[in-house]
Amino acid sequence: MEFAINAGNITKTFGNRTVLDGIDLKIPKGEIFGLLGPSGAGKTTLIKILTGQLRADGGISSINGKSSTALTGDDHRRFGIMMDDFGIYERMNCYENLKIFARIYGIDDSCIKTALEKVGLWKSAKTPAKKLSKGMKGRLRLARAFMTDPDILFLDEPTSGLDPTAADEIHKIILSDKAKGKTIFLTTHTMTEAEKLCGHVALLNEGKIVEYGTPAEICRRYDHCRKFRIHMRDGSDLELPHTTDSAVQISELIGSGRMETIHTTEPDLETVFMELTGKELSA
Ligand SMILES: Nc1ncnc2c1ncn2[C@@H]1O[C@H](COP(=O)(O)OP(=O)(O)O)[C@@H](O)[C@H]1O
Ligand SMILES: [Mg+2]
Repeated sequence: MEFAINAGNITKTFGNRTVLDGIDLKIPKGEIFGLLGPSGAGKTTLIKILTGQLRADGGISSINGKSSTALTGDDHRRFGIMMDDFGIYERMNCYENLKIFARIYGIDDSCIKTALEKVGLWKSAKTPAKKLSKGMKGRLRLARAFMTDPDILFLDEPTSGLDPTAADEIHKIILSDKAKGKTIFLTTHTMTEAEKLCGHVALLNEGKIVEYGTPAEICRRYDHCRKFRIHMRDGSDLELPHTTDSAVQISELIGSGRMETIHTTEPDLETVFMELTGKELSA
């Protein structure tokens, strides 16, 4: 299989603190991959290393088959990056903000319109950035990452601080990009975001990847009780184990019309993360 992003045994230490401690990742082309971890886990550091903005102390990584440490301007045009610390010039309008980067990337101004249309900001092209809502600013930062129509997008907490509606708009844009076959590497500390968007996720904690898989696979792995939880029409609750006896009982309950809802007991990602790290992800 061809991988868009490949990392082997990446390590990084700041002072005496090992932030990344042997990170291995293989991200196939065309998927949305989610790197999850609490604040300070090293998510941004890993993006910086993968995209050649920061040197790792050890290990190797590549993007589209090319080493992160040997990326040229041309390679950089093939991936887009959205990070918190990439500023927006408040006094410039949306168009002017992107124009600066069109110059830096050496691309045609027509890309500005395409990118603004993609994120639904073309009508606000002349609005000064300081007048944009938080959600619109998020979309402007996303537009910047889209400008070169990259194959791979690195989105560092793309919906951080946004309300659910604004986050949902960003999710739709990300999903439509995925539908075009693009690879998206995103970091988040919102589990519902990961469950909604990501094909595979990795949980990063104390420098190591402590879990990897599809969100559903990971949740099933931590389903310690493996039971069915049944809520009856009369208001009572029932828990049944995964056995053939239960199957008969459940079928009878459904037939009798006494059952209101039935659920399996696997935890959500948030609960798995708490169990693995002892921390709340959003903390
Ligand atoms: N340039 C740097 N110098 C020293 N420490 C840093 C530097 N960049 C990040 N760190 C530290 O590395 C840890 C991981 O940071 P970061 O990658 O930003 O985490 P995350 O993005 O998961 O919140 C934090 O403890 C942070 O303070
Ligand atoms: Mg970060």
